[in-house]
This record gives sequence, C-alpha cells and structure tokens, in this order.
Amino acid sequence: MACVVVVGTQWGDEGKGKVVDLLTEGVDGIVRFQGGNNAGHTLVVGGQKFILHLIPSGVLHPDKTCFIGNGVVVDPTVLLGEIDRLAERGVMVGPERLRISDRAHLIMPWHQALDLAREKAKGKDAIGTTGRGIGPCYEDKAARVGIRGVDLTEPELLKEKIEANLAEKNFWLTQYYKEPALDPAAVLEQFLALGQRLRPYLADVSLELNRMLENGRSLLFEGAQGTHLDIDHGTYPFVTSSNPVAGTACTGSGVGVTRLTKVLGLVKAYTTRVGGGPFPTELLDATGRHLQNRGAEFGSTTGRPRRCGWLDLVVVRQAVRLSGITGLCVTKLDVLTGLPSLRICKGYRLPDGSQLETLPASLTKLGQCQPIYEELPGWDQDISGARSLDELPANCRAYLERLSQLAGAPLSLVSVGPDRDATIILGGISG
Ligand code: GDP
Ligand code: IMO
Ligand code: MG
Repeated sequence: MACVVVVGTQWGDEGKGKVVDLLTEGVDGIVRFQGGNNAGHTLVVGGQKFILHLIPSGVLHPDKTCFIGNGVVVDPTVLLGEIDRLAERGVMVGPERLRISDRAHLIMPWHQALDLAREKAKGKDAIGTTGRGIGPCYEDKAARVGIRGVDLTEPELLKEKIEANLAEKNFWLTQYYKEPALDPAAVLEQFLALGQRLRPYLADVSLELNRMLENGRSLLFEGAQGTHLDIDHGTYPFVTSSNPVAGTACTGSGVGVTRLTKVLGLVKAYTTRVGGGPFPTELLDATGRHLQNRGAEFGSTTGRPRRCGWLDLVVVRQAVRLSGITGLCVTKLDVLTGLPSLRICKGYRLPDGSQLETLPASLTKLGQCQPIYEELPGWDQDISGARSLDELPANCRAYLERLSQLAGAPLSLVSVGPDRDATIILGGISG
C-alpha cells in the first residue's frame, strides 16, 4: 500500500517524467496533483521520445491507471490534444485508464489571454511564464469564480459562469490591456463541445484513489515544476501559482496525509532554470554553454533555452526540508562527463561577509548572495552504460556521495541517460 511522491528539488525539469515512467512498473496508479500544462515531462523509451504536459508519465504502461487530481488546472483542449497525439502513436488513453477530477479547475481562454497580456505589460520585469494561463486560473480558483470540470455537465450553470467571468475579464482585457474581447457565446459553444468529449473521463478522483488504497494498491504521485517555483516556498514572485512541494500530493488529490509513505526528490546533477528570477550559481560562460548543449537544455514546453549553472546544494537541502524527502534521484550525471573539475555550492556569502546556509525570503538579499563552492575532480569516462554504482568512475561516486551528504538525504536512484533503461536503482524507492 505504498504512496510515493516524486518532487523536483530545484526549478523544474529535473527529469521527473523519466523517473515516474520508470517507477510506474511497481505501482498501480499514477497521480498528477498540481500545476497544469506549464509542465513538460519527457519520457524516452527504446529511443522513442514522448513529451507529456498534463497526462501523468505512467501512461505508457497500458495496465496502469492515470489520475489528474483536483489540484491540477486542466486546459481541456490541450488534454484532448494530448490524448489524440498519444493515440496516433498507438498509446490508447480511454476513460477506463485516465480519470480526471470533476473538481479540477479548467483553464479558460481568458486565463491564457490575461497571462500573455500581463507578461507583455510587465516588459523587462516579466516573470517569464509559460503563457499557458496557469496563474490566472489559480487566481480565479482562489477568488471562487473558477469553472470546474463538473460545470461542463451543467450547461445552464456553465453559461452563467462564462458570462459572469467575461463581464469582468473583458473589461480588464480591453480597457486595461488594450487586447481584444472574448465572445461569451463562442466560448460556451467551444466548452460544451469539449465537455462532450471530456465527460466520460470525469470522476471523483479522491474516492477512486482511496478505494485503491483500501484494496492494497499502490500509488505514485507525480509532482510538476520544482520546489523553488512553489508559490509559498519558492523565489517569489518568480514562481508558479501552485505548490509543487510534496504536501500538495494530499490536498491536490484527496488522499490523507497519513497515507504517504515515501518522498523522492529529483536532483539534476547541475542546476537549470527557465524564465526570470534569481539563480546564484548561474554560469554565463563556456561551462554554462557546455551544460546547455550536452544536456540539451531547452524547455520541453516553450522551447526556451534553460539557464544553466553549478549544482546548488543550498537549494536541494531546502527542498529536502520542505518536502520531507526520504531519497534522492540524481539525474543527468552523464552531462557532467568531460568537465575537468566540478563545483558544488554549499552556502552563500553576503556582501557584509556573513554566511547563509538557506535561501533568504528577500530577493534583494538572494540577489547579493555569492555561492561558496567546493571543488571536486571531474571524470572523462562515458558513464551512460553504467547500471551499478561500481561501474562509475571513483570521482563520479565521490561527487554523488558529497551531494547526498550536503543535501542531507540518501541516494535512491541515479540516471545516466534519457532512456528508461539508463538508470542505476539503489533502493528506498518502493513504499
Ligand atoms: P521534468 O520536467 O522534470 O520531467 O524534466 P524534462 O523532461 O522537462 O527535462 C529533463 C530532460 O532531460 C528531458 O529531455 C529528459 O529526456 C532528459 N533526461 C532525463 N534524465 C536524463 C539523464 O540522466 N541524462 C540525460 N542526458 N538526459 C536525461
Ligand atoms: P516541469 O514540470 C521549468 C516556470 C516558468 C516561469 C514560472 C511561472 O516541466 O518541471 P507559469 O507558466 O507556471 O506561471 O510560469 O515557472 N515553470 C517551469 N519551469 N519546468 C516547469 O515544469 C515549469 N513550469 C513553470 O518558466 O519561470
Ligand atoms: Mg519539464
């Protein structure tokens, strides 16, 4: 009856998709619990690449059930498109194995319009959002004017809600942002049609998940984004609008906190970030370019180049604390191959000479933080074929050991290539 949560410890794109796909083998259900199609999770199986934005990364295993919890914001067009693209590649995702919470909020056309308009208006101060309408959708959820999956089954209520929302949103769009208005009748028609297709997938996900647990089944919770994009704990305001920390697995799915058994933290062997915001270990030199090229660091959702830098263990250690991480999954270790020496950040120094071992709340202060590095020797050998720790060069093992020590959590898995098989499993993974 395991309930394992997988979360990103950095700023997203740590390789959650790969690890969730791999671990799906040992569980019965896979659950997304926050975020939306701002996520881009990449799976490579036998050389074939799949990028998922909303559907849980367990979907390639035909005998497993995937769930989209109430905490996710769902863009129905994107979701149905994803189902269709998978079907074209022979992966059938019918309502018997994809269950979408009828309480999940829907991303409406005005959410995306407002997201884009606001970013444009902010100019150089833009957050660098994915432009998918994530923030405005969560805002409406908190403002208690959001539209939920279940509303698609009540056309009169849907009509009222769309009209009420657009009365206000069109004012903002046209008067404040000078953008075109949206037509309520057209939006209603579009969503009634989407509702027809989505309806069979809608379910009381909390009820279904708890029934599975009562029947001795196990669940894997797939986090999206990363700890430092968390709206409460991240580098606010350069964050997303949900809580990627592990606790959200419960609120975002309707499973009780006492059910969770393990929390795995995904750590990329270096650091990346997409969009704006502080990044103390960022490298704007040849090493940064090496990481970007070797690691193919371009966003899976927007295609933007990801900013790259040395591994920041202050960032990872904080994530271990915030999510109660029980094991670390280190990914993209192979990308470091060929660098003569490696640096890991273990603390920050402020201009007054004082030192910090945690990220400060103030972005002004974080912007002044200089990383305190420890230098470790690199390795040249190709490690992508390694399937046990013994097969890794001694310097590579030393890097992992130091990582685990400074992060304050044991290693559970090491990934040495994008393919499902390119993995060293160390234990502490199943519930
Ligand atoms: P996610 O958002 O956390 O699921 O991560 P993304 O899929 O956005 O980005 C991770 C990228 O790294 C994807 O292109 C993966 O295929 C790739 N990847 C994952 N693990 C490894 C690894 O160990 N080595 C290499 N070279 N690539 C990896
Ligand atoms: P996965 O699940 C990396 C970033 C955006 C932007 C900020 C806010 O693939 O790790 P939003 O559209 O959420 O309002 O954008 O958050 N961001 C991500 N960065 N990986 C992601 O997801 C991200 N999802 C959002 O780049 O800086
Ligand atoms: Mg990603």
